[in-house]
Amino acid sequence: MGCALVGCGKAIPALEVENTALEALVDTNDEWITTRTGIKSRRIAVEESSADLGEAAARQALGWAEGGHSERSFAPEEIDLIICATVTPDSIVPSTAGLLRRRLGLKSAIAFDANAACTGFIYSATVAEAMMAASAPSADGSAGRNPIRRALVVGTERLTRLTNWADRNTCVLFGDGAGAAVLEWDESRPGILGSFIVNADDDENALTCPLSYDTDLPFDAQGASSQSPAVKDVSAIRIDEELAIREAVESGNPRQTLRMNGPHVFKFAAEAMTEAVHRALDRAGLSLDDIACIVPHQANERIIKYAAKKLHLPMDFFQLSIAEAGNTSAASVPMALADSYAEGRIRRGDKVILVAFGGGFTSGAIVYEA
Ligand code: ACO
Repeated sequence: MGCALVGCGKAIPALEVENTALEALVDTNDEWITTRTGIKSRRIAVEESSADLGEAAARQALGWAEGGHSERSFAPEEIDLIICATVTPDSIVPSTAGLLRRRLGLKSAIAFDANAACTGFIYSATVAEAMMAASAPSADGSAGRNPIRRALVVGTERLTRLTNWADRNTCVLFGDGAGAAVLEWDESRPGILGSFIVNADDDENALTCPLSYDTDLPFDAQGASSQSPAVKDVSAIRIDEELAIREAVESGNPRQTLRMNGPHVFKFAAEAMTEAVHRALDRAGLSLDDIACIVPHQANERIIKYAAKKLHLPMDFFQLSIAEAGNTSAASVPMALADSYAEGRIRRGDKVILVAFGGGFTSGAIVYEA
């Protein structure tokens, strides 16, 4: 028995932006972006919110049977858990998972968001599987936990909202989109065979995005130890968004944008991918010879090429969806997975590896039988 993948879907925003369009923003060109990253174009969510994209991907995953990939579709009330992996929620509260719960009518579902950057989908699916396994009825029938039989795991991002469009080192890399999967605890299928998730310290702050609340506190720090701290004139406290944006643009350092030391992240990513694949395979008791295909995080085609070389595998073993998507962070793996199924790469019974790395640092892999 195991946690089987019984639904998959993806959604992309309407606006497509090709590399050449970025030449007007920064000193770059299509040739550099294509050869260094494998990216030709990306989708940018101008109108769509993270919840809009997540909802569309989730609806596809719930209705996967219509594409002939699963035996049946799932009704909203059959879902017991929704985890939304995102670094770009529409609001801090409610969570994006909470928004999706309401929009999709998941009346029985518990809902929360997870932030593990680009590895968010792998972390969330691993947590969902663990919750299912822990709540499966024991021999005496008493699990003692929320019973979770079916989970919806969504990765949805509007990463282009965290993009510094004046920084050529990062603005050429990112895109928006969403992917989703339905997982079901099934007595008759092996499902997830092994998983591995791990964190490493990003000591050199190679990948960061500060949070700016753009607000001021009504207290002075001097009053910290006194019973009655000095309270400021509240009418003087205001959020001057225009000023904040102007200062950010003038200083060339907009707040709340992704900052990255690309080569440093590249080095971490290349090693983390191969380690995660090996460790997840070990836990599944399998070798690469048993695997039909690998669906990796789509951050840079060169990172995937490096991993292919280290794993002694041909490139056609890997799902490549980066050319038209860019790096969509937590949405990347489920979007690429949906592409794999749509392209007919994965058949029932195939053993597949999902693998990712991300800011934090995070990395991980899942081996499952389709
Ligand atoms: N256009 C033209 N030239 C550029 C551009 C650009 N867009 N960006 C950088 N360059 C220049 C650099 O300035 C540098 O010039 P110099 O030699 O004159 O100094 C030269 O190109 C080489 O720069 P590098 O940074 O060494 O280029 P590299 O080959 O490492 O590629 C890249 C950069 C694509 C960012 C790569 O390092 C990479 O993919 N890193 C990993 C990124 C990643 O995976 N991020 C995922 C995390 S995102 C998240 O978690 C939310």
